[in-house]
Amino acid sequence: MSKLTESPAWTALEAHRETLEDIRLADMFKLDPGRAARLSLDAAGLFLDYSKQRVTDETIARLATLARQARLGDWIEKLFTAKAVNNTENRAAMHMALRGAPGEFPETHSGPAAAALAQMRDFVTQARNGLLRTNSGEAVRAIVNIGIGGSDLGPRMAVRALRGHADTTLALRFVSNGDPADLAAATAGLDPASTLFIVSSKTFGTAETLANAQAAKAWLGKGGEQCEAHFAAVTSNTAAALAFGIAPERIFPVWDWVGGRYSIWSAIGLPVALSSGMEAFESMLAGAGDMDRHFRSAPLESNMPALLGLIGIWNVNFLGAATQAILPYAEDLRDLPAYLQQLEMESNGKHVDRAGKDVDYDTAPVVWGMAGSNGQHAFHQLLHQGTQLVPCDFVVGASGGAHTAEHYLLAANALAQSAALAFGEKGANAFQNCPGNQPSNTLVLPGLTPRALGALLALYEHKVFVQSVNWNINPFDQFGVELGKKIAGGLLPGFTGGALPAQTDTSTRQLLARLTGLTRPKHDV
Ligand code: F6P
Repeated sequence: MSKLTESPAWTALEAHRETLEDIRLADMFKLDPGRAARLSLDAAGLFLDYSKQRVTDETIARLATLARQARLGDWIEKLFTAKAVNNTENRAAMHMALRGAPGEFPETHSGPAAAALAQMRDFVTQARNGLLRTNSGEAVRAIVNIGIGGSDLGPRMAVRALRGHADTTLALRFVSNGDPADLAAATAGLDPASTLFIVSSKTFGTAETLANAQAAKAWLGKGGEQCEAHFAAVTSNTAAALAFGIAPERIFPVWDWVGGRYSIWSAIGLPVALSSGMEAFESMLAGAGDMDRHFRSAPLESNMPALLGLIGIWNVNFLGAATQAILPYAEDLRDLPAYLQQLEMESNGKHVDRAGKDVDYDTAPVVWGMAGSNGQHAFHQLLHQGTQLVPCDFVVGASGGAHTAEHYLLAANALAQSAALAFGEKGANAFQNCPGNQPSNTLVLPGLTPRALGALLALYEHKVFVQSVNWNINPFDQFGVELGKKIAGGLLPGFTGGALPAQTDTSTRQLLARLTGLTRPKHDV
């Protein structure tokens, strides 16, 4: 048993869970008419209703005790005051400084952030006014973002989320996969003479991104020559971007105090500003700043990120949930589940604590999801009648202010799903019975505005931090991702007849032989 699972707050929660075992959500609502109003709150323009979680006031109080035992308040201060919360890499995680109000953060962080914003503003103004020229002198009309992970998922998701605000004739596309099919699809129909690529890579060392950047050069048809005006870069590795041939004034910075999956607030978010304008981008930053200030100052019991994180811990560690579904009822938020998947799973998918000792409790659940109401016609059957506990986060109201029958239908479906999951219905027979008791949160956005989007993303960032503090793990490193990259590097020579590393297992050898056999020219087979 670890210190955490033996601790008074943890064991009290376990005992409390037993007292709730026979009480269903339907009973909780029947016995307590004030429940919905009490178990909900507003913050930074968002409304969270967590009354359909399997919690009582006592559960929340006990979870708050757990957070106090973990010294969450002190950790929040460490985070906001640039302490090395990323202990394994001895770094701060100061993405909040990219969206702070004037004077909120020290000049060491706010200074470079403001300079980068000014550089972005200049570039965006030029691009949106047809003043950005390629080598051939043509105005840039299409921009292709090349990046992967945090250098792709954030801007891709936000450009789509805010496309109701897009007011430019610039075509924006995204390439992430190392599979050449991705670049081919993204560049289909574009004219090389008026296309600009943003190579978005914090390290400028990610294999897929570098391969795509080289392939982009080939697509431009210049053999790598005279194409610097077709490229911009966002990176902390200026030397590598210069060596690639990108002009210094088109290299935008990121810093080691901004993690990849927390980087949408930096120039990694450039596509968002190009698509929706600098004003929209800065509103997104402001919305995130609102949530930061709420997180830093609100008491635990009325702190939205803290509650979201603690309820997640209740579901994972005390009710046994292995997954968390994200269900945005807005087509424009279609990419939110993938974004949150990286945010939560790459951050908190850890098996050792901050001291490097194995944990004896579960950490991040598998995060997945799909835009509603599409998911209803795909996997909701399992949520209603399957055997797994699947907590869901519904994100609704993001209609961009439109009051149409179609939006009412969408919202009605979201509300119907959370009610059906919570309360179920006794069917005429066992096959038709929907047991209910599936827990969910519902987040209501005032509209899919840049400000609301910023607040929503910051809410989940801080949720992840809250959970990491309670699990005593570092959410800001991702060493696990490296192993696959190393093995792939070793296997590469095998595809062209070279030797494989001695430790290569027989299954991998067999699969490689099968793949090379299939791809070799016919006469060779
Ligand atoms: O390999 C995982 C990862 O490091 C992510 O954390 C990161 O967002 C992504 O790769 C891309 O990294 P980069 O921006 O350095 O290309």
